[in-house]
Amino acid sequence: MIKTIKKVSIIGIGNLGTQIAEWAAFYGYQVTIFDVKQEGLKDFVETAYKKIQQKGASGNIHIKDSLNEAVKEADLIIEAIPEKLELKRNVFSQIDKAAPSHAIIATNSSSIPVSMLEEAVERKDKVLNIHFYKLPAFPMADIARGTKTSDQTFEIGKEWIESIEITPLVLKKQCLGFVFNRVWRAIKKECLKIWAGGYAELETVDKAWEIFTKNPIAPFKFMDIIGLDVVYDIEMMYYNESKDPTDKPPKKFEEKVKRGELGVKSSKGFYDYTK
Ligand SMILES: NC(=O)c1ccc[n+]([C@@H]2O[C@H](COP(=O)([O-])OP(=O)(O)OC[C@H]3O[C@@H](n4cnc5c(N)ncnc54)[C@H](O)[C@@H]3O)[C@@H](O)[C@H]2O)c1
Repeated sequence: MIKTIKKVSIIGIGNLGTQIAEWAAFYGYQVTIFDVKQEGLKDFVETAYKKIQQKGASGNIHIKDSLNEAVKEADLIIEAIPEKLELKRNVFSQIDKAAPSHAIIATNSSSIPVSMLEEAVERKDKVLNIHFYKLPAFPMADIARGTKTSDQTFEIGKEWIESIEITPLVLKKQCLGFVFNRVWRAIKKECLKIWAGGYAELETVDKAWEIFTKNPIAPFKFMDIIGLDVVYDIEMMYYNESKDPTDKPPKKFEEKVKRGELGVKSSKGFYDYTK
């Protein structure tokens, strides 16, 4: 643990928020969580405690029923709510009003540079992108500054990431998609085009990936794990930024998301998980 951060709040306890909360608690941080959907949070905490105890540690995760309560004593707040710019701006603003003045506010966004959120807060020197990848599979996190983030904030953020045994991927300047997500984005975009254009079956693409990289987590399988709604929102972020028509996610993909085929979480995505 580092001296400057003891209490960490996670806002948005979905796919990634659960993973970050459990991971930070395992490393001894006092974690407070808040989600607009309260159901399931107790079950999450119980399961997380069991997993943490099996690994020989004790966890400390508190559920709060309001955002204000969740952040009022925090040293570091990580927002992991859906990839919607206005929603994130609103939540950043709420956190800024309720959190102690020394607290750092970070976004786990997969594509939004924190410079696009900093207008929503007064403490522009204390904002960061801390973007986790799936845990425990990929123990790395992008870290990036806003336009006014101080060196001190950046160093504390980096030290905190290292303190939980995650490799920081340092951005020298703001970049949509950060370090590895930008690479992954290029792969994902081309895979979606091959599938939507009817050039090859998605299983063929995944098989080629498995043979070429020796990695069983192939692109379509991975998109199903991430959640196709999340993937769609991220693709729209890139499109809205560039306005390049080739960046727009394929219609066939949009229709799939609208049908509620969201991947593993809805039991159907590119693959069928009902069995
Ligand atoms: N899914 C991934 O693999 C992945 C990986 C890295 C980063 N991310 C990023 O993490 C963020 C969350 O993604 P996710 O996949 O966990 O999404 P998710 O949909 O699984 O979870 C989002 C959670 O936020 C909650 N929420 C919505 N509005 C809220 C509000 N105003 N206050 C508090 N909680 C609120 C929802 O109820 C939900 O539980 C996104 O920015 C995404 O880009 C996702």
